[in-house]
Parts: sequence; structure tokens; C-alpha cells
Amino acid sequence: MQYVRKTSNTGNVHHLEHVNLNFQNRELATKFYECIGLTLDPYQKGNTIWFNAGNQQMHVSVVEDTQTISGEIGIVVPDVEKVLNSLHKHKEQFENTMFNYKVSENNTIEVTSPTNTLFRIIPYNVDSSDAKNGLGISYVLFKCPIGTSKGIARFYEKYFDTKVDVKDQECLIAMGESQLLVFKEDEQYTFDGGYHFCFYVRDFDQTFERCRKDGLLYLEHRFQDKANTVQEARIYNQFRIINIADPKSLEKVIIKIEHEVRSFEHPSFNKTLVNKHF
Ligand SMILES: [Fe+2]
Repeated sequence: MQYVRKTSNTGNVHHLEHVNLNFQNRELATKFYECIGLTLDPYQKGNTIWFNAGNQQMHVSVVEDTQTISGEIGIVVPDVEKVLNSLHKHKEQFENTMFNYKVSENNTIEVTSPTNTLFRIIPYNVDSSDAKNGLGISYVLFKCPIGTSKGIARFYEKYFDTKVDVKDQECLIAMGESQLLVFKEDEQYTFDGGYHFCFYVRDFDQTFERCRKDGLLYLEHRFQDKANTVQEARIYNQFRIINIADPKSLEKVIIKIEHEVRSFEHPSFNKTLVNKHF
């Protein structure tokens, strides 16, 4: 599988920054992400740790409820052989977990994390259309129920004003010019939520208002940023939604995935990240 990144104007979404997956075991999470080439961010303290992948991050909240994405996360790396060698070298550290890996199509490596999330490690190719888009998290793929991908595409078009590409039983949602969300219909789909991902939008106020008007704001979460009004959202420079539904039948929720939606005023916007291997 190979998803071709977008290179044209993609509208309101600027870029996807991080995916947060809870992990029960801080040490195991650190070993895993460092094994696949990410760098433990030196500036983050507390119970959420960050792992840098180019200009993006995997966030890990160290709490009881370990989370899994049943789709996959694509990460473009500068040296895929180096990652493969690291996997060979460190595999014993992950005994008695779900960890596994294999070399797959297009010289990618499929790595299953200790907690069963699939990461696809993708070689950077200077001759491809990816080259100008750099390294790091390339896409996040979520499985969704059969017959729902067109409605999901309409949701992102309407509320986030971003470019979508509807294919047979899947849709690609542009996260800026170089990243994608992919929703792939799957007969085996089962709900696996709890995690969240974060992205930046150009028109924060209008995006917030579209979501607020249609009752999409998500406030029942564990974080501080609970915003009911655009003025409150501007304090945090972010807001959250969780329900994804076809705008034609908004009351019928298709899938629940927490979105952390940020403005360019957020202090983390386009910050420089420490990377050992990217
Ligand atoms: Fe987050």
C-alpha cells in the first residue's frame, strides 16, 4: 500500500502534529519508539512524554488504559536500513508483548508495537513526490464500518474545509499539503477509541463556530481545554471534537475519534524539535 501525498493547495488544515496513544509502561514505550528511530523529547515533563519524528510527534500518556489504533500509522524515515538493524538488535526487549515486524511492499517495514498498533516505516525517496514534504508522520489510517467512508469525507469537507479524495471503500483526507488521514472500510471494524490526534487549522474561529453550531464540541475529556465559546477556545488556542458523522445525518455517529484542533497561536505551532535520526 502506498498513499501519494498531496502537493496542491489543500485548504484550511495546515498540518497534523501528533498522535496520542496511552501506554501503561513508560519504559517499554520509550524503548519501542527509540527502536524505530524516534527521539524522546528532552523538553517535556510529567506523565505525558513525547517522541519526535521529524516535525511530528507521538505522544504517550503514561496511564492505566493502554490504547491501540486498529489501522496503521505511516512514518517516513531517512534511513530505513538503520531502523531494520535497530529492530533486529533490540527485538528481545519486547518479548512477551505484541511486538513484531517484517519487511513489506515498496521496501517498507511493518512494525507492530508492543501494544498492537501497526506502524509502517517508509523510506524517504528524494525522487518521489514525497521529497518536498519531508520526513515524519505521513498518514494515519483508521478502519471504519462498511459504507461509511463517503459520509466521513463529507464531514471533513464541511467542518474542516479540507480537500478529500473518495476512493472505493476508503477516503483520503488532506492534513495540509503533505499528510493524510485515511479512513478504510473494513468488515472487521471494531471500535477502539480513546486516543487522539492533533492538527492546526488556518481559520480557527470559523472552524470552531461550525463545530459549535452543530453540537460537535467535545468537553468530557481529561484535559483542561474545555471551551464552550470561541473566546474560551482562544484562551487555549485549541478545542476538541470526537463524533464523526455524515453531515446529512449528523445524529447518527459513525465513529468516535478525539480531534485536538489548534490555532496558529498555539505555542507549539511549528516549533523546532530535537531529532537524532531524522
Ligand atoms: Fe494532544
